[in-house]
Amino acid sequence: MQRAALGWRRRGIKIGFVPTMGSLHAGHMSLVTEARRRVGPRGKVFVSIYVNPTQFGPKEDFSKYPRDLARDAKLCRAAGVDALFVPTDAEMYPRPEGAAHSTYVVEENLSATMEGAARPGHFRGVTTIVAKLFNLVLPDVAVFGAKDFQQAAVIRRMVRDLNIPVKIIVAPTKRELDGLAMSSRNKYLSPDERRQALALWQAIQAARKRVRAARRGIPAATLKKQLRAFIHRQSAVRVDYIEFFNPETLLAEKTVRRGTQMALAVFIGKTRLIDNARL
Ligand code: PAF
Repeated sequence: MQRAALGWRRRGIKIGFVPTMGSLHAGHMSLVTEARRRVGPRGKVFVSIYVNPTQFGPKEDFSKYPRDLARDAKLCRAAGVDALFVPTDAEMYPRPEGAAHSTYVVEENLSATMEGAARPGHFRGVTTIVAKLFNLVLPDVAVFGAKDFQQAAVIRRMVRDLNIPVKIIVAPTKRELDGLAMSSRNKYLSPDERRQALALWQAIQAARKRVRAARRGIPAATLKKQLRAFIHRQSAVRVDYIEFFNPETLLAEKTVRRGTQMALAVFIGKTRLIDNARL
């Protein structure tokens, strides 16, 4: 992969990269479209598919994470992807003489809250694998989805702090017609859970409405309490966190105003979903 990438780069051909864990949906394909737009018709668009074990906690869904390489490859071909990179565990985490992997990339600031607090070790796995993929694919531009808002911020910071020469683009979240953010994990939902999952989007809409109606903002604690109660009206849904924060620094905001970023994570049965939006 690295050799092909080096060859293209030497010939002045731009590389746009979309790292994924597969089980591709329209949200991923919109990232591919954005990568193509950025590199132009002469450029090359790479997609990687790798379900990265180090970003899953021991009790998380690594083993049951949906995998369908044949279908993913077909979607990529139809979308004009130039190269599909599907590394093996041995390539990504080589263990010569059985030695354990012992080098990681850790972002220490933006990854401390929300997903980082709820899923210890998650961002260490993400930054490590993304840095490794960048080393192999050598992209000029890499595109991530805004649904993983904190992930994109952490990767941006990693790229800046480690002087990695890649431009990070964050493309808007793709939603189903009723507003549910597209996610590979939506496949886990039963029909009833799928209906209840709408609570994420409805909570964002409710927060927007309240913030727009309040001239001087709303205390974050009050709004969190109201939204928790609103979401818990759905019997299968349990709030993991709701946070209000500055979209640049990710620092929590005590008063929620227009422009504050909201992020939330909920369990619907055993499925954990996240969403976020600027209010
Ligand atoms: O967002 C994802 O799908 C993953 O976290 C990523 C960026 C592909 C790293 O494994």
